[in-house]
Amino acid sequence: MIDLEKYRPKLHFAPEKNWMNDPNGMVYFKDEYHLFYQHNPNDSIWGPMHWGHAVSKDLIKWENLDIALYPDEHGTIFSGSAVVDWNNSTGFFPDEPGIVAIFTHHKDETKGKPAVQTQSLAYSHDQGRTWIKYEGNPVLGHESKVDFRDPKVIWHQDSEKWIMVLATGLTISFYSSPNLIDWKFESEFGDNNGSHDGVWECPDLFKLKIENTNEEKWVLFVSIGDNPKLDEGSRTQYFIGTFDGSTFLPEHDDIRWLDFGRDNYAGVSFSDIPIEDGRQIYLGWMSNWRYANQVPTEGWRSQMTLPRTLTLRKTNKGYKVIQNLVKELDAYFSERKEINEEITNQTIHVEAEGDYVDILLNIENIDASTYGFTLQHTENQYTTVTFDVNENKLILDRHASGNVQFSDMFVNKQVVNINNLEKVQLRTIIDSSSIELLVNEGEYALTSLVYPDRPCERVSLFASEGKIIVKNSYISVP
Ligand code: FRU
Repeated sequence: MIDLEKYRPKLHFAPEKNWMNDPNGMVYFKDEYHLFYQHNPNDSIWGPMHWGHAVSKDLIKWENLDIALYPDEHGTIFSGSAVVDWNNSTGFFPDEPGIVAIFTHHKDETKGKPAVQTQSLAYSHDQGRTWIKYEGNPVLGHESKVDFRDPKVIWHQDSEKWIMVLATGLTISFYSSPNLIDWKFESEFGDNNGSHDGVWECPDLFKLKIENTNEEKWVLFVSIGDNPKLDEGSRTQYFIGTFDGSTFLPEHDDIRWLDFGRDNYAGVSFSDIPIEDGRQIYLGWMSNWRYANQVPTEGWRSQMTLPRTLTLRKTNKGYKVIQNLVKELDAYFSERKEINEEITNQTIHVEAEGDYVDILLNIENIDASTYGFTLQHTENQYTTVTFDVNENKLILDRHASGNVQFSDMFVNKQVVNINNLEKVQLRTIIDSSSIELLVNEGEYALTSLVYPDRPCERVSLFASEGKIIVKNSYISVP
């Protein structure tokens, strides 16, 4: 008998049943993190969208709740965000603050009439358990744009107004409002910036701290949809710059990718994380539109990345968005094997059986030409992670990782260019059907799905044509 649940993640959020895509409405309120998500409750492929709902105290263990938003006369419920209306700017909360969801209503095209996307509101007086749709919906439409969706709303402190960042075809548009109901167009960004390989979707805008300074800069995330002509499928780019409450100005011309793996899309950050906490935390949908509807799970489909904190780091290639796994994750590991090894043109095996595994490697390369590890899922199923010193590349190869037949592109190598491979730090989290790599304290991320029969049996560290030193390193299991 096939085990239909073998791919179900233990650490990552996945829907109990049926289909999920983008994370939506992520907000912290009254000691709970809320995660809403694009959900088709009737099938495990994409279909009429609802908002599914889960809550967590620690960002790792999630409790499933009832569906939050159902389709209505204005359409199905596409992606969007949520905020706490602390000062009753909407008038929805005469007694005490509550959550407002700002989302896209989507109407399919019908005989000769194009699809329509508008922005709408819903609000909750009971911590997101039940919702009231605003009677004046929709609150924002467009005369001609068909792609007009995925509102991410933030409170802009300096101008004391709400800002909506919206995906508008191949650009991002900014709107402002005093009350979340009346919206004024501010500006449009992106005609001549970034990658336009696919339709722009799911933007986010926030300030990030520059590590070890008191400075901050604005960051704009823009996900771009699948382009069948390219190998990458859907992926996320970001821009660093300034935002004055009206206009976003990038400070660079190059294209910057958030993740070099195939499986991190539509990521956005939590709203209303308390100031004492101060973190900017985001998570993405751990899939790719190229094959999301075909991945080999039964009865449920898709999962989210682990939540990651975001900062900026000054590097010799300019400022970079840095991602690190939230510290709450550490509590889920207890057994730790320390690794201190010199590896000279050989392979060293470390038994590491667990439902999920955390590997931290601090590697000094003396003179090897390639080094890395093979993750042996089972006897015959494995994934390799290789640093190629001559090519200055990190390569994840999942061609033998288990079930790979469902998409031609799934076997392609995933590659990151890294300037300096003399010293690297690599954090790896392995769950039932995913591998997340973070290099050099979060400077590069590579997020990848895999479908092996078991998560991990053994980790084999290797160095070819020379020596590496692995120090202060470990492998942890639950
Ligand atoms: C991104 C996306 C959004 C849209 C949603 C529909 O993955 O295409 O632009 O709102 O999914 O499910």
